[in-house]
Amino acid sequence: MAVIALNSPKGGVAKTTLAILLAAECAHRGYSVALLDADPNQHAALFGERSTVENLTFQPDITDATVIKAIRRAAEAFDLVFIDLPGATTTLNLKALQLSDFVILPCQTSRPDVRDAMRGIQQIVEAGDLKGLPGDETIPYTILWTRIPFHFESKAARSIREAISQTGARTMSSVLHERSVYKEMHINSEVPRQIDESSAATKEVSVLTDELLETLYKMREQADVA
Ligand SMILES: Nc1ncnc2c1ncn2[C@@H]1O[C@H](COP(=O)(O)OP(=O)(O)OP(=O)(O)O)[C@@H](O)[C@H]1O
Ligand SMILES: [Mg+2]
Repeated sequence: MAVIALNSPKGGVAKTTLAILLAAECAHRGYSVALLDADPNQHAALFGERSTVENLTFQPDITDATVIKAIRRAAEAFDLVFIDLPGATTTLNLKALQLSDFVILPCQTSRPDVRDAMRGIQQIVEAGDLKGLPGDETIPYTILWTRIPFHFESKAARSIREAISQTGARTMSSVLHERSVYKEMHINSEVPRQIDESSAATKEVSVLTDELLETLYKMREQADVA
């Protein structure tokens, strides 16, 4: 149904965390899902070695040399494909972006992070250009605000979020809060749903996934009409 890339030139913004959470939640809903780990650090693949989430296949060691074939194969074999990309602007990122139906650009609410996100958008625009999209079209993408403090959001952070929403850059209305459970999930390779079905983190991931799937369905409907 769709290939979704997690991309940002900035490290530590929760690309891998989100790739695992969203892939696992989609698998929980019955989709067959592949998570392609294209980051040399292989944190998602390591998670996958012990993960017991049904319907979710982790594919490790995706490199610049293998990424195109890997994405094409996975797109044929699975309903949904998530690609965890390195926090970089390599040719691997460009190749993966060109083959993606949708890009999620995780971003924290600080000025430097927003500047890096803008470079991330530029990279997506360039990938669309290389793909031959007309000048006014880009590969569909959205910014997703991540690591938002749970109890308190600073004035500066709020003003950045508001400023970005006014630039017209697409942003998801759901966010990923800073929660210790998102770090702890690496201890036993279990996503929040497997730890506690009714936790706030499980609910948060569910809401994020709802919004993602709704966006993908709308894109599909529009493509069918066109
Ligand atoms: N929402 C969150 N709450 C708490 N910890 C988080 C959250 N998101 C990410 N982390 C932690 O921050 C670190 C970096 O997150 P992650 O690996 O997902 O980022 P990344 O964007 O994939 O980084 P890289 O570019 O280096 O691959 C990890 O230790 C992760 O557990
Ligand atoms: Mg990562």
